[in-house]
Amino acid sequence: MADTKDGFLDKAYDMGSVDEVRDFYGNWAETYEAEIAENGYATPGRCAAALAGFAPDKAAPILDIGCGTGLSGLAFRAAGFEKIDGTDLTPDMIEKARGKEGVYRNLFLGDMNEPLPVEPGTYAHMAAVGVMGPNLAPPETINEVLEKLPAGGCFVFSLNDHALAVPEYPGRVIDVVDGGAAELMFKEHGPHLPGIGLESTVFVLRKRY
Ligand SMILES: C[S@@+](CC[C@H](N)C(=O)[O-])C[C@H]1O[C@@H](n2cnc3c(N)ncnc32)[C@H](O)[C@@H]1O
Repeated sequence: MADTKDGFLDKAYDMGSVDEVRDFYGNWAETYEAEIAENGYATPGRCAAALAGFAPDKAAPILDIGCGTGLSGLAFRAAGFEKIDGTDLTPDMIEKARGKEGVYRNLFLGDMNEPLPVEPGTYAHMAAVGVMGPNLAPPETINEVLEKLPAGGCFVFSLNDHALAVPEYPGRVIDVVDGGAAELMFKEHGPHLPGIGLESTVFVLRKRY
């Protein structure tokens, strides 16, 4: 297990208000990639591979919610997606993503505690990689994304072990599937940050109507 005592990772799952989260990620932006690479961050590649399996048209635009510094965008690019927009709560994280030439088409600030500022149908598919969890993006993100997707559009997202332990997150998946709003196309538990022994489940929901 990597030693995280001088880094941010050991504090990343213990935050309060949205302002606290924004400040935390603002301070982490510079060293985020090095620290999570050191711990074997696997979820972006898993999410991108999962979405690619249900999205044959890679030229259709997708939205990377909570794009951070752009590691998730890089994974979607590597999986063949051509038009990727990103949104995030934290200006410093977005600036890092902006520095990744050729990955994002557009980037904009947004907080998933509020309605997503996009017109329904703008994006064929959406993603939230490492973004939904206690004090981060709320369970309602799932409903908000489904509202804004076209019928047949997919939402790929991950819930790490901390998020899975909060009943409202996996419960929201069950609600939208049982209620008929979405079909569960993919669900797989696997490595998230092996360096700290943390795993995640990757989900793909497809909007029914
Ligand atoms: C662990 S990082 C993941 C970043 C990127 N998706 C990746 O895989 O590297 C979590 C990101 O979620 C963003 N975030 C946290 N709460 C959010 C919210 N309520 N709305 C939008 N983004 C949020 C943070 O600013 C941070 O950039």
